[in-house]
Amino acid sequence: MSKTILITGGAGFIGSHVVRLFVNKYPDYTIVNLDKLTYAGNLENLRDIENSENYIFEKGDIVDEGYIKSLFTKYAFDGVIHLAAESHVDRSITNPMEFIMTNVVGTVNLLNAAKNAWKGNEEGKLFYHVSTDEVYGSLGDTGLFLETTPYDPQSPYSSSKASSDHFVRAYGNTYGMPFVISNCSNNYGPNQFPEKLLPLFINNIRNGKALPVYGDGKFTRDWLYVVDHAIAIDKIYHDGKNGETYNIGGFNEWTNIDLIKVLCKQMDIALGNEAGTAEGLITYVKDRPGHDKRYAIDANKLKNEMGWEPSLQFEEGLAKTIAWYLANEEWMDNITSGDYQNYYKEQYS
Ligand code: NAD
Ligand code: DAU
Repeated sequence: MSKTILITGGAGFIGSHVVRLFVNKYPDYTIVNLDKLTYAGNLENLRDIENSENYIFEKGDIVDEGYIKSLFTKYAFDGVIHLAAESHVDRSITNPMEFIMTNVVGTVNLLNAAKNAWKGNEEGKLFYHVSTDEVYGSLGDTGLFLETTPYDPQSPYSSSKASSDHFVRAYGNTYGMPFVISNCSNNYGPNQFPEKLLPLFINNIRNGKALPVYGDGKFTRDWLYVVDHAIAIDKIYHDGKNGETYNIGGFNEWTNIDLIKVLCKQMDIALGNEAGTAEGLITYVKDRPGHDKRYAIDANKLKNEMGWEPSLQFEEGLAKTIAWYLANEEWMDNITSGDYQNYYKEQYS
């Protein structure tokens, strides 16, 4: 059945993989990618599908209420998959207001536009809100985040995402907005902006630069290959139940320092360097303020209800990721010139 779907943030890291999957898998759908093209948005991520007949790009800001309203009038969307966000925890510590505007106000603008456009005609419509496991706060040494874990966000980023999750649920409860929410763990893979751990470290190793490990490096994250996240989003969009939340994770926990050591080994091999070269770049630096100790997702609800599981083992996913960044040095060089240098100096000097 043909549908017109709005995907927000489709020029970013995860969004670009979701757009690609939907454009290629559903030729009968029209996919409208709305993106402001902030520092994190990059149309280079979508070169392979940009001329597809079922793909339209719209440059715009989800915070702009009038513009969002006009977009819903123009396209009569059947669904929204909302990924647009300010997504980097360190930037949220420096500038929380950007996160409140985009992640909270922008989300509420989209909800209002969808509510008004779909009023009395909600059947077959869906607002899919893509969120993060960080809304649950930080775990101790044991335990996993379940869909029922109480919210306890600890950073300005996770607080803004938690707030947006609450608004989505409130619109479901108050106005009958059909919605689903998913909360995912750390993604890795091609096209990730090099402010996040893995692409930043890959780029630094490539350039022989220090690898800034925050604190003691013993913070734990659960890593998922980005294409597996996109596949989960596809399943949940089509088979998820109205009003439900789904956790998505890799069943794949690593302390940062262990993960960095595996990365270093693989990078030495990929670059043909002597073993130990990359590890020699590890430098412990001042910790991130309020740094969450451990995240780990229980993704069994999604696995049991929809048969979704990560398709890649971590070492395989990491090797594919490294190969992509080394084959796409121009992509990296283009985004690490200019403003990135200022960001890097402020964050790490
Ligand atoms: P990203 O920073 O790579 O991309 C965000 C995209 O949103 C960019 O293309 C940017 O231009 C666009 N954008 C930002 N502000 C906008 C605005 N006001 N209007 C329109 N577009 C705007 O982010 P990502 O890592 O791909 O994350 C995507 C979503 O997934 C976010 O909602 C994030 O919270 C969530 N998420 C990310 C991860 C992860 O590990 N990266 C894990 C779980 C959930
Ligand atoms: O858990 C999902 C979240 O994962 C997403 O919602 C966020 O959008 C995404 O950015 C990510 O958040 P993290 O803060 O976990 O990711 P980041 O890559 O910034 O950091 C991963 C870990 O590595 C974290 O413990 C901090 C540490 N780190 C990070 C950087 C950038 C370092 O030690 N040094 C660094 O330079």
